[in-house]
Amino acid sequence: MTTATVDNTILEDIKTVQDTLYDIRCLTKLYQLLQNVRDVNESKNYFHGTLEELNLREIGHALISVLDLERLFPLVNNFVVSGTNSLSGIVALVKGEEILVKNSIGLPQLTADNMIFKIGEDPIGWIVKHGNSIVVNNFKQDERFYKHAMWYFFGNTLICVPIKVQGKVVGVISVNNKKYGELYTDEEVRFLEMIADYTSVAIKDSGFYPEYKKLNKIDQLTTTYQNKNNKYLPVTLRSIKTGAFTECDVYLQTVVNQENNYLLYCKGNNLFDDERKESFVKKNVNKIYVAKNGNAQYLRYMEANLRDIMNDELSTRQEKIGIIYNIATNMITDTLKSSNIFVIIERGKEWISVILDFISRDKEVCSNFIKVLMYNGNISNHSVNVAIMGLLFGQYLGISARDLLSLGSGLLFHDIGKMKLDSHASQRDFDKLTKVEKEILRKHPDMGFVVLSSAGNLAKEASLIAKQHHEQYNGEGYPYGLKGEEIHNYSRIAHILDEFEIALSRITEKNTSPVFQVLQHMVKEKDGNYDKELFKRFIKFMQMSANENVIAVPARHNNEVSVTR
Ligand SMILES: [Fe+2]
Ligand SMILES: [Fe+2]
Repeated sequence: MTTATVDNTILEDIKTVQDTLYDIRCLTKLYQLLQNVRDVNESKNYFHGTLEELNLREIGHALISVLDLERLFPLVNNFVVSGTNSLSGIVALVKGEEILVKNSIGLPQLTADNMIFKIGEDPIGWIVKHGNSIVVNNFKQDERFYKHAMWYFFGNTLICVPIKVQGKVVGVISVNNKKYGELYTDEEVRFLEMIADYTSVAIKDSGFYPEYKKLNKIDQLTTTYQNKNNKYLPVTLRSIKTGAFTECDVYLQTVVNQENNYLLYCKGNNLFDDERKESFVKKNVNKIYVAKNGNAQYLRYMEANLRDIMNDELSTRQEKIGIIYNIATNMITDTLKSSNIFVIIERGKEWISVILDFISRDKEVCSNFIKVLMYNGNISNHSVNVAIMGLLFGQYLGISARDLLSLGSGLLFHDIGKMKLDSHASQRDFDKLTKVEKEILRKHPDMGFVVLSSAGNLAKEASLIAKQHHEQYNGEGYPYGLKGEEIHNYSRIAHILDEFEIALSRITEKNTSPVFQVLQHMVKEKDGNYDKELFKRFIKFMQMSANENVIAVPARHNNEVSVTR
């Protein structure tokens, strides 16, 4: 027994020594290689492109060969901290909604062990959210980050680069405080990016992220789309039904000498009409193809596969919400080009039913949705923001799923009349328009109603939203000056959301509590415009969301908002 125990201990010791030696060998080799790269750059005596490439490849191989991530992270961190002459460094990995520190140098151990970052906050979280490298040489004056409490960070310079696996940020490498008060260079950023690339390969090979061995649905579709050999995309039966590709030329696939060929079957728009669509649907044919054609086509392709994406367990909630949002803004932009409103409405209804399904299954979705909305003054974003907020608010009000479908589609297309009007007059800063332009713009509710109701596939109350969303509860709205209950309940909801969204879009980025400011303005200046009861509930809905950190309303302002009750 004793002998066996001793043997095991010795064996373990030998293994530890071997591991350490292995790490030291790797590290030493990496240091040497790095030194060579620098020497070559400084002397300029060699064609350093080739040498550098060779050396970097060797460095990469050394990193990739470390399959045990617990050993890889200190190695990577040591390497980048030394290589950039920094005083501290962090290697962190994304886990769910958090970013956990896997190795730190130059920080008190206790601090480092307890460090968790949130996505979107401070430089580490910012990288995970945005996916691009950053170099900061005057931290205190950098508007992006200076507001955040950087309790772990004592200097004024940093580089952060993302570690990406299959296009998704899975971690961050960061070096801070360059020695002797020096500044970081672009070359050092590229160096960190290269190390991040090799770290990514090591992570994939290690099986640390088993889910990446199997592509999630969004990545699968993106890979298919981006594959240069695929010039054409298969169209599913569902997207033939909803008409997502009605505008596109349609191809059929033929195989000649074991090679795929694509024959133009018919031109898009008028030629790919309902009759042809029906014939495909009847025959259950879903082997038709459309040509790849930029980002809009990519989003239509994602739209055609949206239900599969939503049912995919490997895609995260945030990824799903991101794609839902982009698909919808693309769909609304298609309205400008399309003459077939029936098809756009079908696409919109399908999109809303997917969201309804999603929000009924996942209660956490609300906060994630509100975070993704972009308030940029663009009419497509405006329409989608209003629709998403309306669906969440409608759910909060207890409106049934069936009625939410009408409410949501009415909200999504409430400004369709504006989109069909002269583009100059449809710019959103109403106060800057001439009298004539204002008059034209005031026709958009009626025009929208005509367009939507003549399509024949939208509920009456949904079309009414387009007609009545500028009517005010006090009778001072347009086009008809309707009052109180004369305005449909959904249109009263639409008026609140519409004004809220527009006001929020006009607020500058520097404002720390935009939601509070907008609500306060609406209460003080426009209270009579809204159905009081609905407006009160809307404020409560927003307050509730704010309390859950859904919207960045500082706690100190909550009491002031509640004055409005
Ligand atoms: Fe409008
Ligand atoms: Fe609007």
